[in-house]
Amino acid sequence: MHVIILGAPGSGKGTQSAEIVKQFELQHLSTGDMLRAEISQGTELGLAAKSVIDKGELVSDKIILGMVAEQIKNNTKGMLFDGFPRTIAQAEGLDKLLKGLESEITHVVQLDVDNEELVTRMLDRGREDDNEETIRNRLEVFNRQTAPLIDYYREQNKLSTVLGNGSVKEIFARIQKILSS
Ligand code: AP5
Ligand code: MG
Repeated sequence: MHVIILGAPGSGKGTQSAEIVKQFELQHLSTGDMLRAEISQGTELGLAAKSVIDKGELVSDKIILGMVAEQIKNNTKGMLFDGFPRTIAQAEGLDKLLKGLESEITHVVQLDVDNEELVTRMLDRGREDDNEETIRNRLEVFNRQTAPLIDYYREQNKLSTVLGNGSVKEIFARIQKILSS
């Protein structure tokens, strides 16, 4: 089983991923966490990514696909992709990588949360890229570059949309139902 958790910034991808990987014994692969690790280690990649992340733009598909390929090449477990793919090019790249492993995405769970709630959650959290200007751009970038993935996976009959409002537990119960069926 290989799962994508898809949703706008602040929709709860990371929060739900922590629950999902425990229950379904998947490997969590968050490109955002990987990039923040590169930044905190002060690598060249991290340095280049930081200015992009601070503006709320997307890091290049080439860098992201390279990072993901490195992570999954020796993987034997099911994977949970969080914050990736974020563009059609990344989705196609992922399809290719998985095909090379004679595998494919089995489920795409989309978390649906209204914009006002997203902004409130992120301002409450206050990560470095959680300031009002960057948040506004992240939401725009999501609508422009990532939202097309909803149709991409719907056309493949892989998409399930979950209401992302409510308690963490309630939302997880909705996801659990989808991944168990
Ligand atoms: P990334 O780290 O992926 O951030 P994001 O998509 O903007 O999403 P967040 O991590 O902010 O939110 P989340 O959905 O994980 O929600 P969370 O669980 O934290 O990416 C950061 C940047 O890296 C991007 O902008 C881009 O520059 C770059 N990047 C990363 N991947 C890339 C890629 N593939 N391609 C190109 N660039 C890439 O929850 C948010 C808050 O809400 C938390 O405080 C949480 O406690 C709270 N919360 C969660 N659930 C609930 C609930 N049910 N009720 C109330 N509060 C809740
Ligand atoms: Mg996250």
